[in-house]
Amino acid sequence: MSSQTVTPSALPGLLAEPPAGPIALCVPIATAAEAEAVVGALRGHRRRLARSCVGVAAVTADDGARAVLLDWAGRITCPLTVLPADADARGWLAGQLAVGLRGVRPRGGSRTVGLSPDLQDYIEAHFNPPADPIGAALVEATRARFPRGAGMCIGEDQGRVLKLLVELSGARHVVEVGTFTGTSSLWMARGLPPKGRLTCFELDPAPLELARTAWAEAGVAERITVELGPAAEGLARLPAAPCVDMAFVDADKEGYQTYLDLLLPRLRPGGLIVVDNTLWGGSVADARVDDVDTRALRRFNDRLAADPTLDVLLLSVGDGLTIVRRRPA
Ligand SMILES: C[S@@+](CC[C@H](N)C(=O)[O-])C[C@H]1O[C@@H](n2cnc3c(N)ncnc32)[C@H](O)[C@@H]1O
Repeated sequence: MSSQTVTPSALPGLLAEPPAGPIALCVPIATAAEAEAVVGALRGHRRRLARSCVGVAAVTADDGARAVLLDWAGRITCPLTVLPADADARGWLAGQLAVGLRGVRPRGGSRTVGLSPDLQDYIEAHFNPPADPIGAALVEATRARFPRGAGMCIGEDQGRVLKLLVELSGARHVVEVGTFTGTSSLWMARGLPPKGRLTCFELDPAPLELARTAWAEAGVAERITVELGPAAEGLARLPAAPCVDMAFVDADKEGYQTYLDLLLPRLRPGGLIVVDNTLWGGSVADARVDDVDTRALRRFNDRLAADPTLDVLLLSVGDGLTIVRRRPA
């Protein structure tokens, strides 16, 4: 746990290699251009920020800089406050660190976009039944073994939505694109009936070791099959006729359209495709952001919204969770 002052030019380097424990940062900013650069650095490291940074205090006397920063506060993965030049940021930073200490409950990386940490904590404190120890231990183990990737695990809020959707839809065959260490698959497998099947497509074998341990502990390992390799090739090997009741897509963003094209003909009428990261930290609705992933997600969201054969609901849960339903015949 530490709090430190960092210049705008040093910020990208610090965020690229953040310390293991929670940090709170004070960044003195002189101009609007510096504010833009700071915001760019914060957005460029959104997953690492979600993992390790409990707050950024931007200190500035410049009205232009303040306007830029206030425009972004709430749309960045960690709390950002803007303080006047004569303010002492130490109190706010200490408070953020105390909140970080209090937040001992392990969580996935995705806080809900635009939701204050306090409100997110309040919501999570009112989930029922309470947090599952195997899932929480899995997130902790992921954090220890893959500190840079831990932010990729879905949050408890999204996990609960996925499990409920599996249960409500009565799905018997679920497909997952992008499994990592198994957080989302654990939630979905627990919603399946005993003879239900979950087929996971994952490129990287290394994180699956943690997934398999958690699945075994939860007693759902026999429901899950992993297909190692590029998901597009694996999906194309599934029977061409409708055989999938529900799918969860959470892999490379540029591949989302391809996964949709491969999944839709294989989806039973009334079946669901649930897609993560469709808000992408708010970037999709921000004309100033123009990177490859944001463009891919905008195209994907636009395409879904224009398809008359689908029911589409983009929920602001976590980093955006879109539920697509193929209309019943
Ligand atoms: C965001 S993580 C998935 C997180 C997981 N759903 C969870 O909640 O724990 C994305 C995963 O997709 C995998 N991936 C990326 N591109 C892929 C591809 N073309 N085919 C299969 N898996 C891919 C990555 O290796 C990574 O493990």
